[in-house]
Amino acid sequence: MPDTSLTNSKIVAAYREKTPKSAALAERAQNIFPSGITHDTRKISPYGVYIERAQGSRKWDVDGHEYVDYRGGHGALILGHNPPEIVKRTQKQLTIGTHFGAAHELEVRWGEIVQELIPSAERVRFVSSGSEAVLMAVRLARAALGRTKIVRFLGHFHGWHDHMAFGVTDHFDGTPTPGVLDGVAESVLLAPANDIEKTREIIESDDDIAAVIIEPTGGGFGQLPTSREFLEELRAITKKNNIILIFDEVVTGFRVSRNGIQGHWNIIPDITTLAKIVAGGLPGGAVCGRKDIMDHLDYAAMAEKGLDKIPHQGTFNANPLSAAAGIATLEIIRDTDVCERAGAQAEKVRGMLNQMFEEENVPWAAYGSFGAFYLFTNPENIAITPSDFDPLTVDPLVLKKSSPFMNKLSLALLINGVDIGGKPAGKMSCVHTDEDLEHTVEAMRKTVHMLREDGEL
Ligand SMILES: Cc1ncc(COP(=O)(O)O)c(C=O)c1O
Repeated sequence: MPDTSLTNSKIVAAYREKTPKSAALAERAQNIFPSGITHDTRKISPYGVYIERAQGSRKWDVDGHEYVDYRGGHGALILGHNPPEIVKRTQKQLTIGTHFGAAHELEVRWGEIVQELIPSAERVRFVSSGSEAVLMAVRLARAALGRTKIVRFLGHFHGWHDHMAFGVTDHFDGTPTPGVLDGVAESVLLAPANDIEKTREIIESDDDIAAVIIEPTGGGFGQLPTSREFLEELRAITKKNNIILIFDEVVTGFRVSRNGIQGHWNIIPDITTLAKIVAGGLPGGAVCGRKDIMDHLDYAAMAEKGLDKIPHQGTFNANPLSAAAGIATLEIIRDTDVCERAGAQAEKVRGMLNQMFEEENVPWAAYGSFGAFYLFTNPENIAITPSDFDPLTVDPLVLKKSSPFMNKLSLALLINGVDIGGKPAGKMSCVHTDEDLEHTVEAMRKTVHMLREDGEL
């Protein structure tokens, strides 16, 4: 059945009119990729814009339209697109070698700067993505404690592999998503986000739990926020019960502060997973943590204990190109106020959007913490004042719920020159200017008007 809300929409018609070259590429993509896309969060109907180039806080599509970009390379680009120092060092590395199939100085320097910045990183192992980092973190925890189960929080995202694939956007009852084994799903206990008593009950009623994993500022990088007090209590409970605490800092690492959330709030996990910014906009990730746990990857340490080590290969682990970009990025983050600047701009745009929502009399709110902003479009029409909105007072599943017009909202924002994706969620870089923010708020105002005209509000 065709979706008539899309076929009869002025917004969709205007979008199609503006983006013929993207439409042509999308048609070709339909014959290649499932759903015509290469990442689930890029799904948008009738099709997404195809981007040709990017610079700083902006990007341009194949039809020549300019966008203020808040996707930020899915969170990998806190310095914006193509920062000169990163371009310079990766270009140099391209000419002297991208893969030596051997140890090299850059991997040592990359590991040293991770150790310097991330408090829990007594030892580091590089991998190729955030999903891989989480996969290894879970395996390390199981190997270290000789236990089976993992506790996770509803709505928290940790990558797409088997143990993490359900209970994020659906399957909140813990049943496996297609292709995941029942036995795997049974080894994962899902706890309600932010409910410390329920979490304690789960932890204390099962003696086969190896680890608790959490996105430390909340699910979806704070779209479902978690408080500092919750994290502190979780740290205390896991310590008391001798369970490994894993902070998934794939997004928060080097973003909420140069030392991640663990350094910022001084709550130190046993294992940390990193990706995105750690590799300076190129593919890469890392798992790091307590030496005695990371020793399960170490030949000599395991031989001394008479234990098998965890095998670990990976063609692109610590590859020189990602290492060069990663070191350059982490040095800038260490030595300047990148995280503070991104955080200040995000706070500013949240305030500006809320003021506009009040002026336009829409019951929505912009919220978030650190360098992020989220839109709450209030699908259940709760009485709120945008500028006073406290997401912690809203049921996380309502906070996460999508309004029926969300797809049109993303299209209208694109028509007005802003890309915040479909969540909708903005990740701020340190190069977003005040002019970018003003443009964003005006684009959102026009989007509200267009949704009204389309009969959605
Ligand atoms: C918190 C978190 N963990 C893990 C991942 C998975 O990382 P990757 O996409 O590099 O596999 C992501 C990706 O967005 C993430 O946000």
